[in-house]
Amino acid sequence: MRSHYCGQIDESRIGEEIAVTGWVHRRRDHGGVIFVDLRDREGLLQVVFDPDRPDIFAEAERIRGEYVLAVKGVVRERPEGTINPNMPTGRVEVLAHDLVTLNDSATPPFHHDEHANEELRLKYRYLDLRREPMMRNLRLRHQVTRAMRNFLDDNGFVDVETPMLTRATPEGARDYIVPSRTHPGNFFALPQSPQIFKQLLMMSGLDRYYQIVRCFRDEDLRADRQPEFTQLDIEMSFVDEDAVTGAMEELVRVLFREVMQVELPEPFPRMAYAEAMQRFGSDKPDLRIPLELVEVADLMSSVEFKVFAGPAQDPQGRVAALRLPGGSELTRKEIDDYTAFVGRYGAKGLAYIKVNDAAAGRDGLQSPILKFLPDEAVDGIMARTAAESGDLVFFGADKARVVNDALGALRVRLGEDRGLVDDGWQPLWIVEFPMFEKDPHTKRWTSLHHPFTAPSADDPAVLKADPGNVLSRAYDMVLNGSEIGGGSIRIHNRNMQAAVFELLDISDDEAQEKFGFLLRALEFGCPPHGGIAFGLDRLVMLMAGADSIREVIAFPKTQTASCPLTNAPGAVSAEQLKETGIRVRTPRSE
Ligand code: AMO
Ligand code: AMP
Repeated sequence: MRSHYCGQIDESRIGEEIAVTGWVHRRRDHGGVIFVDLRDREGLLQVVFDPDRPDIFAEAERIRGEYVLAVKGVVRERPEGTINPNMPTGRVEVLAHDLVTLNDSATPPFHHDEHANEELRLKYRYLDLRREPMMRNLRLRHQVTRAMRNFLDDNGFVDVETPMLTRATPEGARDYIVPSRTHPGNFFALPQSPQIFKQLLMMSGLDRYYQIVRCFRDEDLRADRQPEFTQLDIEMSFVDEDAVTGAMEELVRVLFREVMQVELPEPFPRMAYAEAMQRFGSDKPDLRIPLELVEVADLMSSVEFKVFAGPAQDPQGRVAALRLPGGSELTRKEIDDYTAFVGRYGAKGLAYIKVNDAAAGRDGLQSPILKFLPDEAVDGIMARTAAESGDLVFFGADKARVVNDALGALRVRLGEDRGLVDDGWQPLWIVEFPMFEKDPHTKRWTSLHHPFTAPSADDPAVLKADPGNVLSRAYDMVLNGSEIGGGSIRIHNRNMQAAVFELLDISDDEAQEKFGFLLRALEFGCPPHGGIAFGLDRLVMLMAGADSIREVIAFPKTQTASCPLTNAPGAVSAEQLKETGIRVRTPRSE
């Protein structure tokens, strides 16, 4: 049907007879001559229908947007003045001598250039994917996975599939569950990750495993989270942290070199979790933004301003300052907006000092809290933040968690609003995570990574003695403020694994029932091992310059975890419910 793709026709084909197929992107009737921009996956080509050929001209008059055509014709140079330098095929056109309409099209619900709302785009995803940027994203994703597979194959990794119908895998989200017909009242869980299976593969002696695999997590969705998403999942035996992170940053360097023609640093910088929280209020700092949090609690512990003194004296509190260069020009309204913004992260306010004239002492400063602060505190703030005339210093005072969340988010927001985000790529490793953190509601220990992560202490007794202060052997890869991967060296000793379950308040019975098979496997000669999983969607989103992972997933779900195209999730028949032994209590919303 076709000799070439539309988007591949250029001056080198002038004079040739070609056959192209594609969709009518645009049709213009220039009083007598009809121009059609014909589109296929490689691009657009201008086709000319001349009234000299009445047979096909009548058909050309009938065609509309998105009709599917097969055209034969001769490539010719466009006349002077009609050249379109913005199009790769903009110097040529095809004079048609044969036209077959392969299919008509209903009028599309939105046009290519239109900024249609996302619900509509997802409902008609097949039309949305006809748009060039979407097609480009899909192909970028393919290039990334191909480069991954090549690299991993060259380095001895074996691709193994793991079950989708399985038991719960604890990655911290809710499970998607699937009822079993053959065991009524019992359920499979879809995997939140292949974590346990890849560890079992190490116990099998596979040594180096990888899989590009779908994971399922029923959690609250955001721009960088989907209920089903794809990981590049990896596990290696007889390795320590350096072996894993070294191999994995090489993988990412190769991806960027081959797909993006970008050279990333070698090695990637490393930063301890504690330092990241101190300086950036985040365990995924965007190093492109040159703003940092500064600790000022010690300056505030005895001031009369209770808002600051309270957290300054609280061992779990934090008082931090964030200097914004040039920020004294912020208006009242802008500051109010930022105050509301940090409120979303639990901050009860956003104190600030405007530095109008740094040399003038107190008189050069402007702030609602100045009157509460003695000279030493003010001088200390100025010195520590290195504030200069024209700057503004923001403050957060609360539990450390709230201050970090609020000022960490404000830092990123200010970076974006004020054009302070550098171009380029800033990868880094975050290491030395705490093993556990206390859930503020249940007061129970939870794993920061997952329960299979090895602690830096080898002795279960040390771990139990002071769980809050033990570090783990986990590492996260962060790129431009996004966590693109996370992994750890695993526990390979049964007693240590049992100790961690115990600390997490997983009872013996529960540990046996849920993870007995893993504990048992650890008794049969488990090699030391570790690994990582990359969020493929997030990585491709960053490479594509997209602002949501939905832009790089062919058929994503909405923020409420539904699919406007297929209308999933949907009801099932009474028969299916009966077979699986399920009775639905609440009336279904259709
Ligand atoms: P983790 O839970 O950190 O680790 O996940 C690894 C990476 O997957 C991506 N990711 C997501 N992407 C899109 N939508 C989501 N809902 C979502 N959740 C996570 C992130 C994250 O860094 N089994 C461990 C890995 C290991 O220890 O080897 C795991 O799944 O980019
Ligand atoms: P108030 O005394 O409550 O009027 O607060 C005085 C200033 O402190 C205002 O600018 C508030 O936005 C700010 N503020 C109040 N609580 C906090 C807090 N927890 N952290 C930082 N600033 C705060």
